[in-house]
Amino acid sequence: MLIAGNWKMFKGPGETAAFCRALREADLGDVDVAVCPPYVSLADAVQCLAGTEIGVFAQNCHWAAEGAFTGEISAPMLRELGVYGTVVGHSERRQLFGETDESVARRAAAALEHGLHVIACVGETESEREAGKTEDVLRRQVSVLDEDDNMVVAYEPVWAIGTGKTATPQIAQEAHAFIKSLLDLPVLYGGSVKPENAAELAAQPDVDGALVGGASLDLESFVSICRAASQ
Ligand code: PGA
Repeated sequence: MLIAGNWKMFKGPGETAAFCRALREADLGDVDVAVCPPYVSLADAVQCLAGTEIGVFAQNCHWAAEGAFTGEISAPMLRELGVYGTVVGHSERRQLFGETDESVARRAAAALEHGLHVIACVGETESEREAGKTEDVLRRQVSVLDEDDNMVVAYEPVWAIGTGKTATPQIAQEAHAFIKSLLDLPVLYGGSVKPENAAELAAQPDVDGALVGGASLDLESFVSICRAASQ
């Protein structure tokens, strides 16, 4: 069971250091834990969590090792900082920054090749779900990913992200089972995970953890989610 906090564009280096210092003292129960701070805060997170089992992930990673790619960061650069892994294909990247299945696949492959762990995000929009296209969308998004021991998938229905509308445990379970029928990898659930719903989601047979956005920004709430999921 992996509980990863996706901080999005929140917490600069100072706030990150304070959060990570408190996190290392917290009782997180029996789960693997990771945080995904913004790029500028990664070094502080790595430093403050050194010697713990808590992983530090970036939120994205370019496919080239270096080059003329203004605004991008490469896997070797993340490795040099001591970062453990990276998220790729988050729906905000796909929807707001033009990422495609192909660019997500290239980012994932390069990260793995350079020794990073990967959380690869997939998920349908509300209109895709309403049109009965959920499985087609998941199949398309998953088909570009290769099985790898260092990769997990995060199922994040777009309609559940930051909306307070969590997928029911049954919807999550169904989607996770479908993804696993295509790719033999652990699948995290993401989308409005909170301390109140984490245990029930984590209890589903094919839910192997959570990618938590908003509720991961507050220490107490993130710790509660970790402990709820570990039961
Ligand atoms: P949320 O975000 O928990 O705030 O819905 C999840 C995510 O985007 O990873």
